[in-house]
This record gives sequence, C-alpha cells and structure tokens, in this order.
Amino acid sequence: MLKKKILLGISGGIAAVKAPLLVREFIKSNFEVKIAITNAAKEFVTPYSLSVLSQNEVVTNIFEFKNSKASTWHINLAEWCDIMLIAPATADLIAKIVNGIADDPVSILVLSLRAPLIICPSMDKEMWLNKSVQQNISILKERGYFILPPNEGELASGLYGIGRLPEIYEIKQFVEKVLSKNHQDFKNKNILVTAGPTYEKIDAVRFIGNFSSGKMGFAIANAFALRGGNVNLVSGPVKLDTPKNINRIDITSANEMFEHVKKNYRNSDIIVMCAAVSDFTPNKKFHNKFKKGNLHSNILSIELKQTKDILKFLGEKKGKKILVGFALETENLIQNGRKKLKEKKLDMIVCNKLGKNSGFNSDTNKIVILDKFGNEKKIGTLSKFDTANEILDYISKNFLHWIV
Ligand code: C5P
Repeated sequence: MLKKKILLGISGGIAAVKAPLLVREFIKSNFEVKIAITNAAKEFVTPYSLSVLSQNEVVTNIFEFKNSKASTWHINLAEWCDIMLIAPATADLIAKIVNGIADDPVSILVLSLRAPLIICPSMDKEMWLNKSVQQNISILKERGYFILPPNEGELASGLYGIGRLPEIYEIKQFVEKVLSKNHQDFKNKNILVTAGPTYEKIDAVRFIGNFSSGKMGFAIANAFALRGGNVNLVSGPVKLDTPKNINRIDITSANEMFEHVKKNYRNSDIIVMCAAVSDFTPNKKFHNKFKKGNLHSNILSIELKQTKDILKFLGEKKGKKILVGFALETENLIQNGRKKLKEKKLDMIVCNKLGKNSGFNSDTNKIVILDKFGNEKKIGTLSKFDTANEILDYISKNFLHWIV
C-alpha cells in the first residue's frame, strides 16, 4: 500500500510533549512522517527523539537544513506532503499564520503549502477564549484550513477547562477524514447562491433597500466552494470581498436578480436563495432627482408594485433540484417558516429571528432548519461561516443523494 505523507509542524506549547506519541501512531498507520518544529517547541520536545521516531531529519532552523537543496527545502517539503498537521498550534503561531509571517520552520511551510492544512490549537482556557485567538481561528476557517478544536479537561496549569490537545486517536481520525476527501462532498455539483439586499430605484439618487449585509450568503457560497462545488453567486450591493473560486455576478434590483437567476438555475443542482429580495418596487421611476418643490402638499406618495417572487418561481420549476430558502422573521418563526416552505414548494428553509446576535449585519447567526418531511433542527449561535457549514451538512446528509 502506498504510504500517505504527512508533514507535522510542532510549536512551543506544553502539549508538544505528546508529539512523539503522535509520530509513533502515524508511523504505525503506514504514514511517512516529516517534521518541522519552532524554536520554542525545542524547549518541550527534542528534535533528536522526533527524528528517531520519524526516521527522518527534523527541520529546526530555516537556514540549516542539510539534506536538501538548502535554499528551497520549504518548497520541497510543501510539495512532498499529502497533508500538513500542526499539533500543538500555539496562539502565537496561529496569529503568525493569519498574518502571513514566515520566520520559523513551521510558519514558512504554511505559506508554501499546496496540500490541506489541519491545525490543532492547544493552550490555556483563557488564552483559547481570548477574542484575538477566536477571531484568528474564524479567519483561518474561512480561508479553508481545518481546525480541530481543543478538548475540555485538565490543563497543564492544574485548572480544568477547554484547551487540551485532543487525544492522539482523535487527531489521527480527523487527519484520515480530511484525507478521505469527505469534505469535498459537493465536488462537481453546480450551486447557485443569492446574497445581499436589492435596491429598488425611486429616482436618480434614492432607492428602497434593506439592511442585509450579504455576510450569510457569502459564507454559504464560500463553504460550498471549499467543499468542492462550482458556485455562481448572484449578489446585491454589498461591501464584501469575493471568496476564492466563486463566480460572482453583481446585480442591483430584484428584477435584475430574477434575470440572472433565470439564466443560471437550469444548470444548477442546488439553489440557495439567501438574498433579502425586495417584495416591492416603485411603479413609476423618476429619471432625475425628484424635487420637493414639485409637491403640492407635504406628502409624497410613491406607488409600489410587487416584484416577482423568485423563489416561488423556482419552486414551480425545480424538478430534481435541491431548493433552499431563507426566512428572516420578527415573530412566529417556525409557523411562518413552515408556511413559506409549503407555499414556495421548497425542500428546506433556514429560519432566523432578527435579534442581537442573529440576522442582518451580525457576524453570528442562530437558525432553525425546517425541511419538507416535517423535520426541525435548531442550531445555536455560531459564526456565519460555521452556520453555513451546518446548513451544508444538512443538505449533504438529507438531500444530496437525489442528485448523484
Ligand atoms: O416571503 P419572503 O420574502 O420572506 O421569503 C424569503 C425567501 O424568499 C428568501 O429565500 C428570499 O431570497 C426569497 N425571495 C425571493 N423573491 C422575492 C422575495 C423573497 O426569491 N421577491
């Protein structure tokens, strides 16, 4: 059997003392292991024992690697491996990776890497829960790195809490899972996602819009792309960067969104309508700026007409496609969600209540998923990227077999 090649990065936290056991476990499981360690890691584990166990020389210094073309060892190792694992990853190393710093053997390899990267953070509970660390972790997840979060348990300080490096077998299982490409469950699937608000023009300078930031829809598009999908993202006016490997189409009005969805839906296997599409648009548009001097009283009436309900249109035509809608509600979340699910002939609907930590512009969300079989799944407050992956997990588990 062909050996799998793992590149292990070790940084200087107390959990580095477990690294030799990890190396032994990978060797036993038919992996070839090569190792790079930071200076601080040398305080906890010796390069000599690591090289005995891995049967390979360990990189301990950017400038002193003997057995390779000296100047390009980081490229050679990055190209060599099937996967890179950093265990333990300290708060300091995580911050370096976020910022692209490459001044030690581990962080320099991350920049050169072509393969998937798994990061196993391990540190004291308060350090792990610190806002900077949590923000850095969110950034790394959104970039497509795999994070195996620490366990709760006894910590080196004698305190109890979250921060422990997961058990050796848990780390190995996670590596196997990522390698088995489980995470590529949407590979070769065509996905259409809508996101953001729409602007309905009243005159040359004014519009009717809403407070949608587009963050949820962009997180969903990003999660699909990272899990192998071919993603078309139809977006209203938002201030967000386009995630990697996504075809983004910018529109302004509900009508433009409808036109682009019509162009793209036939070719899509999965459609997620996350956009906050305006239900109304002015019946008559003024080409120039409307002047208040033109009014005969202090009341301006703007006549509105309904826009096309794009999701309902798709529900009528969907065939074997998987169709997912969103419902942002201020009251009766579940009843209203069920009603929309049925009326619009959806497979599933993601309901969220407008609140402090969920809905428009927030970085987190708290959702309930309803499906057409009558099931209901509540998901607690999570970052929008983690929420997106929960939605994808639900689609993957319950609907994806329709379209294979
Ligand atoms: O009925 P309501 O607008 O609350 O439903 C929300 C869902 O319908 C969202 O998925 C939204 O993207 C979609 N929608 C639509 N076309 C509209 C209005 C809403 O596709 N004109």
